[in-house]
Formats: sequence, structure tokens, C-alpha cells
Amino acid sequence: MNKITVIGAGNVGATTANVIAQKDLAREVVLLDIKEGLAEGKALDIWQTSSILHFNTRVTGVTNDYLKTKGSGVVVITSGLPRKPGMSRDDLIKTNAGIVKEVTERVIKYSPDAIIIVVSNPLDVMTYAAFLAANKAPNKVFGMAGILDTGRYKAFLADALSVSPEDIHAMLLGGHGDTMVPLPRYTSINGIPVTELLGPAVIEKIVERTRKGGGELVRLMGTSAWYAPGAAVAQMVEAIVDDQKRIFPVCAMLKGEYGLKDIYLGVPVKLGKDGVEEIIEISLNAEEKKLLKTSAESVQTVMKVLDDLKIF
Ligand code: NAI
Ligand code: 2OP
Repeated sequence: MNKITVIGAGNVGATTANVIAQKDLAREVVLLDIKEGLAEGKALDIWQTSSILHFNTRVTGVTNDYLKTKGSGVVVITSGLPRKPGMSRDDLIKTNAGIVKEVTERVIKYSPDAIIIVVSNPLDVMTYAAFLAANKAPNKVFGMAGILDTGRYKAFLADALSVSPEDIHAMLLGGHGDTMVPLPRYTSINGIPVTELLGPAVIEKIVERTRKGGGELVRLMGTSAWYAPGAAVAQMVEAIVDDQKRIFPVCAMLKGEYGLKDIYLGVPVKLGKDGVEEIIEISLNAEEKKLLKTSAESVQTVMKVLDDLKIF
């Protein structure tokens, strides 16, 4: 790919640009921030690792100059406030909705064909806001959360089982919040159902830790995570750039799937050069359906807050 843009050169944005460059996914990565000099500095720092880490992707930084993002194939939006201890992701909506709207409109002006990946929180509703602002087909506007959340789930399972995290395969549904729905029934260790290897109490403890995984890191660091989020976004970008048709949990627009309509929510999708190429509907038991419904209702409550802001 010729050009990938990352909006927001903070913790997540800079890490995303760094991983994309290390994977050599594009000729150029443009990092953009409103803080004077921040994107330029971080981009220069990353670019100066190129000869050490062996990559050619040119990383450049700009202060609010969207002309430099012109012609991007993929744009990642990370701009906005992160959580502080005691805050929920939903507390961020008033500030971040305006930022995501403005940024998306400016991105689209210079890269009308770009695929947009949203990272800013509250993720499901900010992805919806970007969709409204971009006025594009929903398969080209979606959000990152599920790869991060399953990444946490897999890391906890790997520790509990003392196996390689690479051998753990898992799926997760729902919003990026404490009501997310990890699916032990769809979790295996290279094909062996996790339920064969761990008892229900241990699994439930891991599921609960996964749901609160973001908050655990906020408490430890005073701000939210960036290494795993940045790596997760880069994995999505790689699937698009290389047309890999990977199956990932992605925050995508539902049009009747899972009995839900006109809502962005985490579901399994096929990710390739056209973005979300397919939404995969897996069968759910009564308990899983109930949990998904609760998660959707929690996202709908925040969508109502977005509506009430009357910015669209
Ligand atoms: P950060 O504070 O380190 O970086 C945010 C950057 O956005 C700052 O450098 C700021 O100057 C910039 N920014 C603010 N307004 C802007 C605008 N109008 N145009 C361009 N840049 C602007 O925050 P961090 O840790 O990078 O998190 C970014 C967002 O990502 C937060 O909303 C956070 O909650 C969310 N997040 C989402 C995750 C997910 O799984 N979806 C995971 C981790 C973070
Ligand atoms: C996370 O889950 C805060 O959404 C961010 O780390």
C-alpha cells in the first residue's frame, strides 16, 4: 500500500505507526496530531529505528496538516482523551465525539476512498460517529477492540494452562466495555475445547478479568494501554493491505445479524482488501444471547448520549 495515516500521535497512535512500519505494510505512514511537533518527533524517532529493525516504510509526522494525508488507503483514528482511573470509557464521549467527527470529515476530504479504523473510546459509539461523519459504506468504517480483548483473554488462558498463547483460538462478541461477551464455547487450544482443560470456575474468573482488562491497566498505569492496542490495530491493517481474509472480532455495523440493526458492535468478520467483507453469524445458546443483548443495550445507552449531543 502506498500510504497509511494514523490520526493521534499519543500512546496508541504512535505504537500503531511503529508496528505498521516494522511490518513494512506501506511505503509511507503519516502520523498526525494537533500538538505542535509531537507527531513530527515521534515519527522521526520511529524512522530512526528503520536501519536497526530492518524496514523501509517511511514514517513522517505532521501537525494538523491533512493535505499530507492525501490519498491514504487506510486511516486509523486514535485521537481523543484516554481514561483516567475511576473513569469509564463512556465518560469520554462528550469530548471524543466532537474530535472523531471533525477528524473523520477532514480525513475524508483528502482520502475519500480510505478504509477507516476507529480506536477512540467509547469505541462502539465512536465508530458509529465516524460512520455518520464519513458518509461511506459501513464495510469501510469499523472499529478495533475485539483483537485486543481476545488478546487479553488468550494471554490469561496461556498463563492458566502454561501453554503458548499462539495455540489459543478464541472469539468474543459485544461492545468494548465491561459487558463484552468472551465465548468459552468457541475457545480452543489448537482444536481442544478449553472446557476440556479448565474447570468452569477458572474459566469464569478469566472471562471476568478479560471484561475488566482495560480497567486493570488503567489502575496500574494511570492511563489506558497502548502496546496491545497498537499491535491489534496493525494486525487489522495487515489483513486489509495483504487481503488476508482473516477472521477477527471487529466492531462492525449490524444490519439484522444477531437480531440487531443499525448498531456498531463486536462480531466475527472476514477482513480483507474491501474492509469488512462478511459478517459471520455463529449460533449462540440462550445464555450467550442474553449476554449479547445486555451488551448491545449498554452500547445503545451511549448511542443515546451521542444523539443528545446533536452534532450530527
Ligand atoms: P493519548 O492521550 O496518548 O493520545 C491521544 C492523542 O490524540 C493526543 O496526542 C492528542 O493530542 C491527540 N488529539 C486530540 N485531539 C485531536 C485532534 N482533533 N486531531 C488530532 N489529534 C488529536 O491517548 P491514547 O492512550 O493514545 O488513547 C487514544 C484513544 O484510544 C483514547 O480515546 C482511548 O480511550 C482509546 N483506546 C481505545 C482502545 C480500543 O481498544 N479501542 C484501546 C486503547 C485506547
Ligand atoms: C482498553 O481496553 C482503554 O479501551 C482501552 O485498554
